[in-house]
Amino acid sequence: MLFLQLPLLLALLVGGDNEQNKNSIPEGFQEPISFEVICVLSFHNSSWVQSLGSGWLGELQTHGWKSNPGTIIYLWPWSKGNFSNEELMELQSFSHMSFIRFLQAFYSHARKWQFEYPFEVQIAKGCELHAGEVPVGFMRIAYQGSDFLSFQNKSWVSSPEGGKRAQVLRRLFNLFRGGQEIIHKLLSDTCPRFLLGLLDARKAYLQRQDHHSSVGWIALAVIVTLVLMAGLAFWLWKHWTHRESPSSVLPLE
Ligand SMILES: *[C@@H]1O[C@H](CO)[C@@H](O)[C@H](O)[C@H]1NC(C)=O
Ligand SMILES: *[C@@H]1O[C@H](CO)[C@@H](O)[C@H](O)[C@H]1NC(C)=O
Ligand SMILES: *[C@@H]1O[C@H](CO)[C@@H](O)[C@H](O)[C@H]1NC(C)=O
Repeated sequence: MLFLQLPLLLALLVGGDNEQNKNSIPEGFQEPISFEVICVLSFHNSSWVQSLGSGWLGELQTHGWKSNPGTIIYLWPWSKGNFSNEELMELQSFSHMSFIRFLQAFYSHARKWQFEYPFEVQIAKGCELHAGEVPVGFMRIAYQGSDFLSFQNKSWVSSPEGGKRAQVLRRLFNLFRGGQEIIHKLLSDTCPRFLLGLLDARKAYLQRQDHHSSVGWIALAVIVTLVLMAGLAFWLWKHWTHRESPSSVLPLE
């Protein structure tokens, strides 16, 4: 009887644990899910700029950025997704190079474009997955918190809020066709691949954690069972010795 109860007890304890962790693993993408890189540049004066870079899986920060010397910080054991170190190094040096070029462009044109110090530029780029649809890549640039430029269909588009300055910048950015191809590839190919790899790596990591806690639960269940068995054996022994043969030396045999 007790031996029939043991697997049931285990199933209840372990099963309960699995239920708890289910919600944190994205399955089937019911909701759109995104990976986004955000960079905030604060231009204080003509020689001092502060930058803050970060990577986000939905609402969860997964990456940081050290602008000097330009390295990606992996915040979770699964933050590299399934990309090789080689591919990640390539992305890192590309990010660093674009960052430097971007800074130089803003610095050398700040006066001409009438950007008054101090000012802030925010860049958001990434991709979004919707269930059963083609991934959507996006890149947006904001100036002082309002929309300035966005990347659509392999070219830059200026927002009405950006005024004349945004139009001038749009024309300049659109001169570099090679750069547009690279951005398009990053947003529509590299980003969705990275996002899917990231989700897989995170899921595998959570399942390993889940497994570790399951082992803990099994150990607890075994101990509880042993204690119950000992209690039952003791009760049987007392019962037996008192009722059947109080003088018996081997009551259970
Ligand atoms: C820029 O700001 C920093 C910090 O306030 C200051 O040390 C530096 O002298 C400034 N440079 C110029 C060119 O104003
Ligand atoms: C992008 O361009 C293609 C063809 O050049 C066009 O069919 C599509 O509607 C465009 N998409 C957007 C969002 O402008
Ligand atoms: C990473 O995983 C994604 C999704 O499973 C896959 O499309 C991609 O080919 C994998 N590898 C690399 C290097 O992107």
